[in-house]
Amino acid sequence: MNETIAIFASARRDGNTGKLIDWIASELDIDIIDLGKKNISAFDYDHRNINDDFLPLLDELLKYKNILFVTPVYWYAASAQMKVFIDRTSDLLDVEELKSIGRRLRNKTAYVVCTSISPEVDSSFLTSFKDMFEYLGIDYGGHIHADCENGYDPHKYTDDVKKFIQSVKCSL
Ligand SMILES: Cc1cc2nc3c(=O)[nH]c(=O)nc-3n(C[C@H](O)[C@H](O)[C@H](O)COP(=O)(O)O)c2cc1C
Repeated sequence: MNETIAIFASARRDGNTGKLIDWIASELDIDIIDLGKKNISAFDYDHRNINDDFLPLLDELLKYKNILFVTPVYWYAASAQMKVFIDRTSDLLDVEELKSIGRRLRNKTAYVVCTSISPEVDSSFLTSFKDMFEYLGIDYGGHIHADCENGYDPHKYTDDVKKFIQSVKCSL
């Protein structure tokens, strides 16, 4: 079984970020889970949403060694759909019966796949992911960023994509 999975969250499936992850996923031969197709609601202190798609998705993710977090940069941060998913990992810290699931994230490696209209991705954007991974005990594997200021131009990212794919493969 492939040891890598991508979770994708953009306001459009076929936009810049979608095209970038389709390319990477076809090279790695991995599946992409579109968070936009999941019914995952915002964090709730009372956990009334515990039966939505968050826990089944997590069960799926736990089958893999590497998880790619795929999002455009929206206002210096992850997309809203990605943020909702990240917030919900707090359920794993809060709910006693879910703590063991949270601990199973500890041996995973996470990568960030992102696009923006800036030459480099903001360090604050990456730092928020790195800090979140560290808090959850997940290793950070690295990131790939595509500058889409003049639209999505795959030729510009060929070397970066090759390097990224190599680093994901080497981690296995
Ligand atoms: C709501 C919104 C906020 C954005 N904020 C930023 C930003 O803070 N920095 C940046 O460089 N690009 C920003 N962009 C540009 C997107 O990151 C860029 O166009 C990205 O490639 C879009 O990916 P998508 O096609 O998957 O949505 C923003 C775009 C949108 C729609």
